[in-house]
Parts: sequence; structure tokens; C-alpha cells
Amino acid sequence: MTRPSELVVVTGASTGIGRATAQRLALDGLHVLAGVRRQEDAERLAAVNVEPLILDITNDDHVAALGERVAGDGRRLRALVNNAGIAINAPVETLELKEWRRQFDVSVFGQIAVTRALLPAILAGTGRVINIGSVAGRVAMPSFGPYAAAKFAMEAVSDALRREVAEFGVEVVVITPGAVRTNMTESGIATATRLSEGMTPEQHGRYDKLMAAFLRQVEAFARDGVEPERAAAVISRAIAARKPRTRYTVGPDAAMVVPLSRIVPDRLLDRVLRRQMKLN
Ligand SMILES: NC(=O)c1ccc[n+]([C@@H]2O[C@H](COP(=O)([O-])OP(=O)(O)OC[C@H]3O[C@@H](n4cnc5c(N)ncnc54)[C@H](OP(=O)(O)O)[C@@H]3O)[C@@H](O)[C@H]2O)c1
Repeated sequence: MTRPSELVVVTGASTGIGRATAQRLALDGLHVLAGVRRQEDAERLAAVNVEPLILDITNDDHVAALGERVAGDGRRLRALVNNAGIAINAPVETLELKEWRRQFDVSVFGQIAVTRALLPAILAGTGRVINIGSVAGRVAMPSFGPYAAAKFAMEAVSDALRREVAEFGVEVVVITPGAVRTNMTESGIATATRLSEGMTPEQHGRYDKLMAAFLRQVEAFARDGVEPERAAAVISRAIAARKPRTRYTVGPDAAMVVPLSRIVPDRLLDRVLRRQMKLN
């Protein structure tokens, strides 16, 4: 087997979309530097063309080591897939600032840190930045505020970066999945349940119905979601395309909601979301 001549970095590759993407891109013939946070995940993931690295994207030393690993490799960095993420969801009033900061530390500042560390290599090799967004980065459902805020922020960062580096031949692409069957459902439910327990009696009075609707919604995402391999295939396409689109959706829900979000007035969308969450 020949040694791949190009690198790709995938963050958050221990499970879900990240793992499926690392495996898919290795099959595409790229050498995948796959970021994981635990040694046991590294051992599980290691395979032909998949080289796990310990990478917590909120850890400055890990991010600097990744930059050095890529710079010292000598091969072209074809793409960075900013996939790592967490989902902290609760009504705005109930969520302490430290939880908002944690959401942003991982899903915004961590993405930016990795992007900044690897941009010199991406510019040198006219590579690509692939940011994993979400339908929640286009439509903020009630109780999804922190996660949606982080994903909206990354939409803006992606637009700005795309316009900054286009003239140097670097493409910036946002992948917008709808529901995908991954660990995020379980961890999202566990986090929301923990946060609910910290609510005051008044907040329980105001938001218990909403939190029950939230849990039903997340369970429906898990039931109806597409497999992570489907997202991996779209990411593979965005990397391989000669002239990629600026945005790709994954799954039928995203394909429907994203175009609608551009044209439906706010008040109408408010009513649609209340009905969808059975809040009426
Ligand atoms: N599932 C969906 O329905 C859906 C829909 C739209 C968008 N997305 C997006 O898709 C991406 C992947 O999520 P997923 O659904 O595949 O969920 P997942 O299975 O929970 O994967 C999340 C990944 O992020 C990693 N991660 C979390 N915090 C990290 C940190 N500080 N540093 C480095 N890695 C970290 C996790 O590592 P550990 O195992 O170490 O925690 C895991 O590998 C996320 O950006 C998510 O927002 C998912």
C-alpha cells in the first residue's frame, strides 16, 4: 500500500461524525490525523491511514503540538475538519454563565484555536477548512440557545474567513447536518437533565413543559436521524470537489429547514416551532 501524499486533520474523532469521517477520509487515500481526548479512544481508532492524536481543542499545548506535527510532516494539509463539539441546552434564564462559557470554549474558541494553528499550513497547501455547523446554526429552537448561539457564531466566523482567504485559493465550507444518530443525543439529554435539576422552583414552573418538549425533540432526533456515515460522505465530497459549495446540508430535515429559514418570517417560524415541539 502506498503512503498517502496528503494530510487531513479531523477533530473530535472518538465517536459519531468525527469517527465516521476519519475512517471515510482514510479510505479516500488521505493520511488522517484524528483528534481524540483519551488514550483508549486512540487505541480503538488507530488503523491504516488513521493516526490518532491526543487533542483537546481547549488545551493550548495540545493545539500547539498539532500545529508542530503538521508543520513538521512535509506533506500537504488538504483539509481541516472542525468537528469536535458539545451540546449544552437549557432555557436562557436558567443557565449559569460558566455553562455558556463552556459551550463557547469548545464549540467556538476551540474551533478558532485549531483553525489559527493550522492556517499557515492550509494557506501553504491551498487546503480547505471544513466547519461542522448544524441546523441549529440557522434556526434557534427554544431551549437550544447555547448550542445554537455557538453554531450561529461559527457561521459568521466561516463567512468572514472564507472572504479573507478566498484570494489565496483556500476554501471554507460549512457542513449543516440535521439530526444524526450519535452520542450527542445521550450526552445532550444527560446534560439537560443535570441542568434542570439546578433550576429554582419558579424556573421549574416556567420551563418544565419546555424541557419535557426538549427531551421529546432530542429523542425524535435520535430516532429519525441519519447515520454518521452519511455526514462523512458529504464531508468527503466537500474535500474532493474541484470547486466546493460554501455550504452543504446533511439529511432530509436540514435540506428542508435551511432554505425555509431564509424566507420564513420570525413570527411564523415561532409558531411552527411551538407546534413542532407540541408546546401549544
Ligand atoms: N448528532 C447530530 O444530530 C448533529 C447535528 C448537527 C451537527 N452536529 C455536530 O457534529 C459534530 C460532531 O458531533 P456528533 O454528533 O458526532 O457527537 P459526538 O459523537 O458526541 O462527538 C463529539 C466529538 O467531539 C469531541 N469533543 C468534545 N469536546 C471536545 C474537546 N474539548 N476537544 C476535543 N474534542 C472534543 C468528543 O470527544 P469525547 O469522546 O472525548 O467527548 C467527540 O469525539 C459536532 O460539532 C456537532 O455539533 C451533530
